[in-house]
Amino acid sequence: MSKILGIDVGATGIKGAIVDTKKGEMITDRFKLATPNKSTPKHVLKVMQKIIKHFDWEGKDVGIGFPSIINYGYTLSAANIHNKWLNFPAEKYFRKKLDARIQLINDADAAGISERYHGAAKDVKGTVILLTLGTGIGSAIFRNGLLIPNTELGHLHYKESIAEHYAANSVRERNDLKYKEWSVELQNVLLYIEHLFSPDLFILGGGVSKKFHKYEKYLKKVRAKIVAAKMRNEAGIIGAAMALDMD
Ligand code: BGC
Repeated sequence: MSKILGIDVGATGIKGAIVDTKKGEMITDRFKLATPNKSTPKHVLKVMQKIIKHFDWEGKDVGIGFPSIINYGYTLSAANIHNKWLNFPAEKYFRKKLDARIQLINDADAAGISERYHGAAKDVKGTVILLTLGTGIGSAIFRNGLLIPNTELGHLHYKESIAEHYAANSVRERNDLKYKEWSVELQNVLLYIEHLFSPDLFILGGGVSKKFHKYEKYLKKVRAKIVAAKMRNEAGIIGAAMALDMD
């Protein structure tokens, strides 16, 4: 068994658990702390240290899913996180400060990896697109099982701004929308993505994947099959840990 601490950094919460990366399962409860209001590298690091302490995980492997474009260990975007992360050598920073082996990947790519090996995308050929619906919208695209990282479909130009500003779960919550109302935008965004990539399967993740039965019926115009992420909101933690093992 290969055990790795997976940490999923989100705009509202930072969650961790120890993962059996071979089975793609959490072997501890999930431990969640709030993302600091000022989510700078220094403050996020402090939360990570608390998570590491909680699991008594000093100096051991840590896989981190992060809501940014990740390229060669640098965080290249900062949509729902502090601007200090822009062009920041995050992987090196965490490695040094946490004195551990670190793998940093985009949070939605992390969720995609666990669904690809152990969840809704397991053994699925063709084009699979996972979207995480949370504060923003993250994406992971697989073609015959191969991940194309950093696709950022939530930032597709849409209406007056970008897709995640209309169809993320945070928009539904903030405006107190009924699932039926919110789904109008979600379906439009799915149709837009379908037009670009003709996927065979959409997987919807994030916290709202638990409620998939409430809005599934409003997405009927989409040709591709749509399912909820099997690992629900835990996919990000599990995939972040798995990514380190795959490296
Ligand atoms: C970020 C992505 C991230 C997504 C979900 C977006 O705003 O640009 O990198 O995957 O939010 O957290």
